[in-house]
Amino acid sequence: MVKIAPSILSADFSKLAEEILDVERGGADYIHIDVMDGHFVPNITIGPLIVEAIRPVTKLPLDVHLMIENPDSYIEAFAKAGADYITVHVEACSHLHRTIQLISSFGIKAGVVLNPATPVSAIQHIVTDIDMVLLMSVNPGFGGQKFITSVLPKIAEVKQLAKKNGVSIEIEVDGGVNEETARLCVNHGANVLVAGSAIYNQPDRKKAIEAIRG
Ligand code: DX5
Ligand code: ZN
Repeated sequence: MVKIAPSILSADFSKLAEEILDVERGGADYIHIDVMDGHFVPNITIGPLIVEAIRPVTKLPLDVHLMIENPDSYIEAFAKAGADYITVHVEACSHLHRTIQLISSFGIKAGVVLNPATPVSAIQHIVTDIDMVLLMSVNPGFGGQKFITSVLPKIAEVKQLAKKNGVSIEIEVDGGVNEETARLCVNHGANVLVAGSAIYNQPDRKKAIEAIRG
């Protein structure tokens, strides 16, 4: 069954704990946390302090998406704050293999993120070292953007690449995921869907999660 990772970027931050429990009760599988530094992307959001505060609120795995420059400098802080997954952008890593090793050294799952214009070949040589590939279906920085359909063949390509290498990795898609675009992602081989506005902008989060799961 496809897993749903609500992005708290679109939650009401004045009652964050409640907003997280609402999607947990609604059947969410992961909590997706968007970390932005105002350099790699033109927005500033969440730091390790907030991740640490969220940790005891939920039993769900915390899927921490780092949209920051120099991720190596912050991986330890996010790992110690309670991240279960840390994903880093290939575009922000000069030594991607080393960064993946660093994440794994904390005993947590490591993932790599590709922006819409980045080809799947960028992960060809590290696919056996990672637990997750996150494909961006918008340009990162903000919630509520339109789904970029050119990600679809990339989903199938990642699936092929994993198969060819005999590894089972999670294939997650992030950005503009709603009831309709979710079907396209799943049909192309995605097994984790991030959704921010399509869940948090709905009054009934359980219904929204079920609609996206299909
Ligand atoms: C975009 C973030 C996404 C975002 C998704 O930079 O990485 O996780 O919150 O929001 P929606 O689902 O509204 O596109
Ligand atoms: Zn994200």
